[in-house]
Amino acid sequence: MGLISTSYALLLAISFVALVDAGCHYQFPAFPPPDYAEPCPELLEAFNRIETTVSALVADPSFNTSSYSIEVTYAKSTLWTSFHTAVDKDPARPGAEEIDGRSAYRIASITKTFTVLGILKQHAAGNLSLDDSVDKYIPQLAGHQNGTIPWKDITLRSLASQLSGLPRDWAQGDLATELSDPSALGLPPASLSGLPQCDSFGEYRPCTEQELLQSIQSKPPLFAPNQKSTYSNIAFELLGLVLANVTLMDYEDYIQSAILDPLEMTGSSFSKPSDSIAVLPKNISWYWDVDEGIQNPTGGLYASSADMSKFLRYVLSHYNGITPALNWLQPASFTAGLNSFYGTPWEMFRSNKILNDPDRLVTFATKGGGLPGYSTIIVLVPEFELGITILTAGNETLLNHLLEATTVPLIQAADMVTQRHVQNAYTGTFEASVINSSIALSYTRKNGLGITDWISNGTDMMTAIPRYFKFDSGKSHVQLMTTLLFRDQDNLAGECWRMLVLPNQSPPDKAKVWDDFCVSDVDTMMYDGLPWNELVFWDKDPNGRFHTVELTAFRVSMSRANTKEVISEKLLMQDL
Ligand SMILES: *[C@@H]1O[C@H](CO)[C@@H](O)[C@H](O)[C@H]1NC(C)=O
Ligand SMILES: *[C@@H]1O[C@H](CO)[C@@H](O)[C@H](O)[C@H]1NC(C)=O
Ligand SMILES: *[C@@H]1O[C@H](CO)[C@@H](O)[C@H](O)[C@H]1NC(C)=O
Ligand SMILES: *[C@@H]1O[C@H](CO)[C@@H](O)[C@H](O)[C@H]1NC(C)=O
Ligand SMILES: *[C@@H]1O[C@H](CO)[C@@H](O)[C@H](O)[C@H]1NC(C)=O
Ligand SMILES: *[C@@H]1O[C@H](CO)[C@@H](O)[C@H](O)[C@H]1NC(C)=O
Ligand SMILES: *[C@@H]1O[C@H](CO)[C@@H](O)[C@H](O)[C@H]1NC(C)=O
Ligand SMILES: *[C@@H]1O[C@H](CO)[C@@H](O)[C@H](O)[C@H]1NC(C)=O
Repeated sequence: MGLISTSYALLLAISFVALVDAGCHYQFPAFPPPDYAEPCPELLEAFNRIETTVSALVADPSFNTSSYSIEVTYAKSTLWTSFHTAVDKDPARPGAEEIDGRSAYRIASITKTFTVLGILKQHAAGNLSLDDSVDKYIPQLAGHQNGTIPWKDITLRSLASQLSGLPRDWAQGDLATELSDPSALGLPPASLSGLPQCDSFGEYRPCTEQELLQSIQSKPPLFAPNQKSTYSNIAFELLGLVLANVTLMDYEDYIQSAILDPLEMTGSSFSKPSDSIAVLPKNISWYWDVDEGIQNPTGGLYASSADMSKFLRYVLSHYNGITPALNWLQPASFTAGLNSFYGTPWEMFRSNKILNDPDRLVTFATKGGGLPGYSTIIVLVPEFELGITILTAGNETLLNHLLEATTVPLIQAADMVTQRHVQNAYTGTFEASVINSSIALSYTRKNGLGITDWISNGTDMMTAIPRYFKFDSGKSHVQLMTTLLFRDQDNLAGECWRMLVLPNQSPPDKAKVWDDFCVSDVDTMMYDGLPWNELVFWDKDPNGRFHTVELTAFRVSMSRANTKEVISEKLLMQDL
């Protein structure tokens, strides 16, 4: 008995110590995303600043053949757009006169997100499983193979998350097609024998399914499946064949009917749009006319920025509901670097340089694209419910300048909007009516929403908790974390949150290697079978302000104390 109670106490202590000792960032999102439908002066100010920066950028003669379209949307509607038309265009083939939201670009590898969405929809429909191997849907890859790629071990999920170990390309990216003198790069003369006779090997004639399969069947793998990530275009071409197999439609027709039509992406297609809406960069517009054929699923789509905003709105509002098999915006594998990951097929990035605090991270899910003349990216920031589209034509270095110039001020402003929303909705003092229980919630930029005072039935919790669990209250704080769930899920009422004891800051010098080690353990303890650290916010008024807090395990509900009005009443009485 003695032993059992000792180890039980130890367990309790460990769950707190883990949270208090490690310099861990807690999982996003910290708060429900704000409602951008309200006027947001912070965002307007940021958009003005971004406009000034990007206008100055494209005034540089390096970019005088460059055009761009930038859009920022949240889950419901577009918040801001900016367009620029190149000052230097090809007079013989200028394309769109004035760039706007309907102007079409080649979005290149952003197409991969459409291919994967198709696969997710087919998984949800029960027509395939993400964990099926690719040879189940491409008969030529089943059975005895002359080549060494282990098709039966490569799943659709590995293909979609850059974990297939397949080579990158087959009909593009061969230096032999680009070098007039290979010896200048120390290479022997090219034989060009046994190569496909399409795309870059064949004056950009579109390649066929047979050419694709024949070529890849004779290639060796780069890595074993699921071993290491590496960018592969071939993987998405195979997913296109899989979609065609299970839907009994051409890949292009399927994407049109399953995604482009329902989202009303009327300015997007796999067939070349008319020159009147085409963004055609001087000198390098030749790729506009290239039909990608069997390579469409990896990079063939033409789209406008207004259409990409529609697509991003769909992703922002469905990413964890397309299929139970996958939250679409979670990472799937490591890439190079500490802060970057592959999703499915997102290129994910986490940065602590934006919110001016090493302990505050922002997570981005992006997909970039590049083809001759076109550099593009879409960016999702689910914790702020924002989607950003940047399409450029012309100098390919412009994209990264625009990405930095747009995302940093935008996210900083969105954080200020969130802060205002959190302060309005949750902060204040809440009191019980029959027992001596009260709680004070406040917001700081550094620590987010937290508990600053807490009395439970006469017990001062801010001293009782550290004393009981033996940690230094001076070095920690109690922070609240949204779960994004509701007690009454049908009526979206009763927002469920959890409280966590967190360190005030990362260990200053991160002296020890393992100071960086973190796990997530949010549901720390129960009391009497109920979650000890759960808070539920009830009674939201039309201004988004909550009036009741329930502490589940403490079996108490507390109402917002109208301190301001009480004080002003007193002042009024004194004045009288
Ligand atoms: C593209 O822009 C960069 C500046 O970012 C410049 O150095 C380069 O010369 C430009 N390239 C062309 C082809 O104009
Ligand atoms: C664009 O910039 C180049 C130098 O980078 C210059 O030769 C050309 O005249 C410029 N064109 C226009 C229309 O400004
Ligand atoms: C789909 O793949 C299966 C299994 O390889 C094959 O039997 C079937 O004929 C294919 N269907 C189509 C329409 O290609
Ligand atoms: C394998 O190689 C043999 C001999 O070169 C050839 O006849 C056969 O068609 C090849 N099979 C496949 C599936 O490529
Ligand atoms: C599932 O596949 C069948 C053809 O096999 C197709 O008719 C059906 O539309 C597909 N379901 C969805 C939701 O795409
Ligand atoms: C465009 O092409 C012309 C002729 O080939 C060349 O002189 C010029 O430098 C090119 N300009 C750019 C921006 O690449
Ligand atoms: C409050 O404390 C009193 C005395 O300690 C106890 O009898 C009572 O059950 C407690 N009530 C609640 C709701 O915790
Ligand atoms: C409520 O409890 C706190 C902490 O024990 C105590 O300081 C305070 O006086 C109590 N208030 C009332 C009205 O009993």
